[in-house]
Amino acid sequence: MKLPAWLKSAVFYEIYPQSFYDTNRDGIGDLNGIIQKLDYVKSLGCNAIWINPCFESPFMDAGYDVSDYKKIAPRYGTNEDAKRLFEEAHKRGMKVLFDLVPGHTSDRHPWFLESRKPERNEYSDRYVWTHNAFDYPEGYRWMSGMQDRDGNYLVNFFSSQPALNYGFEVQDFPWQLPPDHPAAQATLEAMKDVMRFWMDMGCDGFRVDMAYSLVKNDPFRTGIKRLWGNVREMFEKEYPENVLLSEWGRAEEAIDAGFHLDFYLHFNGRGYNALFQEGASDYVDKASEGHCFFSKEGKGDVTVFTEEFLPKLRYIAGRGYLCLPTDNHDMIRYSRFRSEDEMKVAASFVMLLPSIPFLYYGDEIGLPYREGLTSKEGGYFRTGSRTPMQWTAGRNRGFSESGGELYLPVEEGASPDVEAQEREKNSLLNTVRRAIAFRAAHEALQAGEEMRVLFAEKGKYPFVFARGKFVVAVNPSGSAAQAPVAEGRYKSVFFVNAEARIDGEKCIVPPVSLTVFEKE
Ligand code: NOJ
Repeated sequence: MKLPAWLKSAVFYEIYPQSFYDTNRDGIGDLNGIIQKLDYVKSLGCNAIWINPCFESPFMDAGYDVSDYKKIAPRYGTNEDAKRLFEEAHKRGMKVLFDLVPGHTSDRHPWFLESRKPERNEYSDRYVWTHNAFDYPEGYRWMSGMQDRDGNYLVNFFSSQPALNYGFEVQDFPWQLPPDHPAAQATLEAMKDVMRFWMDMGCDGFRVDMAYSLVKNDPFRTGIKRLWGNVREMFEKEYPENVLLSEWGRAEEAIDAGFHLDFYLHFNGRGYNALFQEGASDYVDKASEGHCFFSKEGKGDVTVFTEEFLPKLRYIAGRGYLCLPTDNHDMIRYSRFRSEDEMKVAASFVMLLPSIPFLYYGDEIGLPYREGLTSKEGGYFRTGSRTPMQWTAGRNRGFSESGGELYLPVEEGASPDVEAQEREKNSLLNTVRRAIAFRAAHEALQAGEEMRVLFAEKGKYPFVFARGKFVVAVNPSGSAAQAPVAEGRYKSVFFVNAEARIDGEKCIVPPVSLTVFEKE
């Protein structure tokens, strides 16, 4: 199976459509707004975008509760706008991934409205129901006593998100259908039909929500691998240039299953948090303790990352890529607890790894994480990472010309915006641009190319690694740090904040800085 060639040099930009750019003055971003800002996204050096769900939805979970998979939510525009977005992106050499939510729908989806009826019909088994309302086996999350149909139904995430039925690999109860049951197969075919619908319009593939979770009771992942293998076959035959990116967090399973790409994330492993999130969040239990490597306090441990990341890279080599985000709509923004200089180093580092970088909208200007906002559309602590993009210093920070309420409030006063950072040569925005351009100019820095660790020690700074003829030395800590380097002639070719220097067999890296050397 082949990997589309465009992935190697891909740099993605994630857009939360609610908050990017509003062109119809309703206070909520829209697809036309994304079209109007494509040139901006391209100017960053990003050549692909991932848009969070933009389909019709009651928005109990920001659109991850779909009520019509084939219709753009009216607040974002129309299907015609989506088509135009694909065309405009392609004209600029950019790709667009939509967000596919195959695991569950909204409880207002017409499939569910049929499924909940007491009379048997085509959709009765599209969701997972027990056979009577007093039967709710342990180990699952049930909604009970909510419908006239006699039985309880399984939910995947929030209570408004009933789980679609792709079958159970191991069946312990009569209500659990095997994955090859015609009803489970019909669910899969319906989802493939949704994918074809958007790809035939011009969409370049999907980021797949909770991709690991479709087949239940699947201890050895055999069922889920069969399922995605089937979908990948469709891609190979019908859409060989398009891609599937999983929200899985275990590339060793996801790539085997058939995904081209898997996210390296804040769950299903410790490495990501050890780099960026530990200690940065008191909202997310798992990340609240400890110290991340990318912090001025200098108490992190980069080996937690290297020991997890490198074996993954080796395992998937030639068959798929990892994707590493600056953060995303489910995490605390990296701006929380980081100064602008620290963000410059962190973002540049993301651009220099053999994974595919994902820049979350606003991270290029250090858009703040907003504390204490009332939850919006099921965001809870995530709401603070989903506020409107700040384009200018003007009204509504250039996000919207609405005179009324915005999706979420913009920050007034001394808070970053694009316009101001465009003017400043050394701004975070222009630093991110430079780092992306540097990656783009050198194949050795792109996805899948080698990465060799030269210095990574428990509790120590800096972190030094080679990418082909380049040596990257990064020191996020607040004190100068040094590491041994092999003898040779090194020329500094890129740096952030301050330049490291080689002194004999030592590399001395100033506080909060990153340097790339070329070995001659
Ligand atoms: C993961 C998505 O990224 C998140 O935002 C959503 O709430 C859940 N999946 C449920 O779909």
